[in-house]
Amino acid sequence: MTELSTGRHRAAAPVDGGLAPTVDGSVAQWTDRYTHAVMDTFGAPQRVLVRGEGSYVWDADGTRYLDLLGGIAVNALGHAHPTLTAAISAQLGTLGHISNFFASPTQIAFAERLLGLAGAPAGSRVFLTNSGTEANEAAFKLARRTGRTRILALEGSFHGRSMGALALTHKAAYREPFEPLPGGVEFVPFGDTAALEAAFDGEPVAAFFVEPIQGEAGVLPLPPGYLARARELTREHGALLILDEVQTGMGRTGTWFAHQLPHIGAGVLPDAVTVAKGLGGGFPVGALIAYGDPVATLIGRGQHGTTFGGNPVASAAALATIGVIERDGLLEHVTGLGERLRTRIAELGHPLVETVRGEGLLIGIELTAAIAPQIAARALEAGFVVNPCRPTTIRLAPPFVLTDEQAGTFVDFLAALPHDLGADA
Ligand SMILES: Cc1ncc(COP(=O)(O)O)c(C=O)c1O
Repeated sequence: MTELSTGRHRAAAPVDGGLAPTVDGSVAQWTDRYTHAVMDTFGAPQRVLVRGEGSYVWDADGTRYLDLLGGIAVNALGHAHPTLTAAISAQLGTLGHISNFFASPTQIAFAERLLGLAGAPAGSRVFLTNSGTEANEAAFKLARRTGRTRILALEGSFHGRSMGALALTHKAAYREPFEPLPGGVEFVPFGDTAALEAAFDGEPVAAFFVEPIQGEAGVLPLPPGYLARARELTREHGALLILDEVQTGMGRTGTWFAHQLPHIGAGVLPDAVTVAKGLGGGFPVGALIAYGDPVATLIGRGQHGTTFGGNPVASAAALATIGVIERDGLLEHVTGLGERLRTRIAELGHPLVETVRGEGLLIGIELTAAIAPQIAARALEAGFVVNPCRPTTIRLAPPFVLTDEQAGTFVDFLAALPHDLGADA
């Protein structure tokens, strides 16, 4: 058997000077140690993983899984991609971190690249962060700099866990333990144009925050025409249109940004976009992209900052990720494979599958019963990582390097699910 198929992790090369942590131990042993050392915010880990390669990961017992979640829409290039690994290593071995009193060519080239992909006009600027929630914090501050405090967001929204991003997040269970949150945020019903129009008739609005496809809420694309109307309304009322593309951006939907899909964005140019997750291919990187003057200059010197944001290694990771996506034609692959996968799942006609939706490789499988957690648990046992993002929805957000053959093994798994699984639900 090849080393790949046995799934045992490789011994660390001796370049670490003997300082790398040992990976010896079973999943059960590591899980026990986890519960004593790591704060219980996520619950017990489903498995303790020791390595990855391409679209596969291996746990500490040597079991292999097809990673159809990609670190929640992060691992665009899969695991241990050689180009990404080399870019990060080379940058770290040259210039790893500098303060933001200084800049690096890598950071500047990355910022320029991002503006190019975003189709941002002259005068646009980015603010670089380490995560999605930080990108949304920056966007929240951008909105406050309009001089207005009323912000609109959507029911079902998820924008992150820090206080500003949490204020924009709709789910009561996430918000309530931490109130009072920064004020001024009002939620309007998802995809309801008339409700949005009515909301703009009230007090002046600073900004409308919206995900082109709600990810955490179950992979729900905005209805056609909604974003275009939101653009008209924000423009009419002097408000910012801020798109949260943390989950949907960087090629996940087959275009660099989901709003660039004609049936979602209808060609709208937003005032700001936030991005993270797939941006660094697994290395923590985020960004706020502010479109044109005066939006790009609303936050001035000394009004925002970060120690790590935009550091050379993160910037190199992002540039390498973008470079591989372009070099290997991964946007086209994401579009094609996404379509084929959705079609194949729908064509199963499995009584447990109600619909399949999404764009590119952000896919929501809507079930006919509230058994998504049970199906995800069965999938894991069968060697597939998927996510029950809500009781009736399985979310897939696999690496862009996933092959048709690999995807097909999951379709076969679904096909074999007992038809009466939801009977007790
Ligand atoms: C749409 C959206 N915005 C923001 C975030 C928060 O990003 P992070 O977890 O990197 O802080 C997420 C994370 O799931 C997200 O899906």
